[in-house]
Amino acid sequence: MKTNCFFYRKKKYYIPPNGVVTRKSYSNIALIKYWGKQNNKIQIPLNSSISYSLGEVYTVTRLIYKEKKKSNLPIRIFFSGKEKTSFLPKILEFFHRISLYCSYLRNYNFTIETYNTFPHSSGIASSASSMSSLALCIMEIEKKLVSSLKEDFFLKKASFLARLGSGSACRSIYPGLVVWGCHQSIKRSNNLYAIPYPYDVHSIFTKIEDTILIVDDEPKKILSSKGHQLMNNHPYARDRLKCANKNMNKLISILKIGDFQEFGELIEHEALTLHAMIMTSRPYFLWMKPNTLNVIHTVWDFRKQSKKNIYFTLDAGANVHLLYPIQEKTFIIKWIYSDLFAYSKKIIESFCL
Ligand code: DP6
Repeated sequence: MKTNCFFYRKKKYYIPPNGVVTRKSYSNIALIKYWGKQNNKIQIPLNSSISYSLGEVYTVTRLIYKEKKKSNLPIRIFFSGKEKTSFLPKILEFFHRISLYCSYLRNYNFTIETYNTFPHSSGIASSASSMSSLALCIMEIEKKLVSSLKEDFFLKKASFLARLGSGSACRSIYPGLVVWGCHQSIKRSNNLYAIPYPYDVHSIFTKIEDTILIVDDEPKKILSSKGHQLMNNHPYARDRLKCANKNMNKLISILKIGDFQEFGELIEHEALTLHAMIMTSRPYFLWMKPNTLNVIHTVWDFRKQSKKNIYFTLDAGANVHLLYPIQEKTFIIKWIYSDLFAYSKKIIESFCL
């Protein structure tokens, strides 16, 4: 079922007067990047994407709901214990977008208490884990109203709602490899919500480490939501879309065969393509910092000498994700701390769930 109507919840249900729900959700790192949104549509991607959900980097959200008595501002947000009015516009927009599908929300005032295990707006997808944990909280409320709600629907709708908050967030609902966006080679893939990757995956890709080098922990100057807009009228947009589609086909066979070198080359190419798109937008921008390049070159040199399977990918920021099979962890992690520590403000040892 791939229409918005599937997710409407208009019927009147018993509305509990107040309560609290808490959910945790992991960040994710895209292997094939979502970049650009379809014009005049809400949160529909230009191309399909695939990501790994990440252990250790997550958001915990506690959503307190109270029956609305008067028409005061319905939402307050606390991030790591401090009230954050600067987050309000995005959250209000999110509640506005999803109110059509969750009409019961109109009955409540909300307090959102949330924290991350990593710096927000620093290139680790904080919007992915925060919006997905909030969407999961909202579905927990819906579950209280509709006792017959099935787990499969719960997750699909959570992904659908999360997408309306932040595109990449819809992939964070599931562990493992997750696909969002319609691709002709992936059955049930669609633009409205993410699905777990439905095909065989070689065992080498089931235990992958992701060591994240925080090169820069300042909030990003250009947020990804602005960056997506720059794909409209981008001179290379058509080629990028063709390339993303081809890369997805390549990745499907790589994941099956278990060729780590091909995998690594593909994800590095994707990461550099994403950055090339932002560098050639109007206005143009550069997310990489000198230490991003230092890390990349050091990884390339190390790989050449050691023949180890270590490859990088990047998000919309300066930080570097290093992906390698768990079997090679002992050697590689030692090398990371000895040769890359100087380029990083912080190292986060994560893994693909
Ligand atoms: C580069 O999901 O943050 O991380 O939908 O506007 O919230 P919005 O954008 P967002 O974009 C993420 C882009 C990316 C690639 C990816 O995660 O696929």
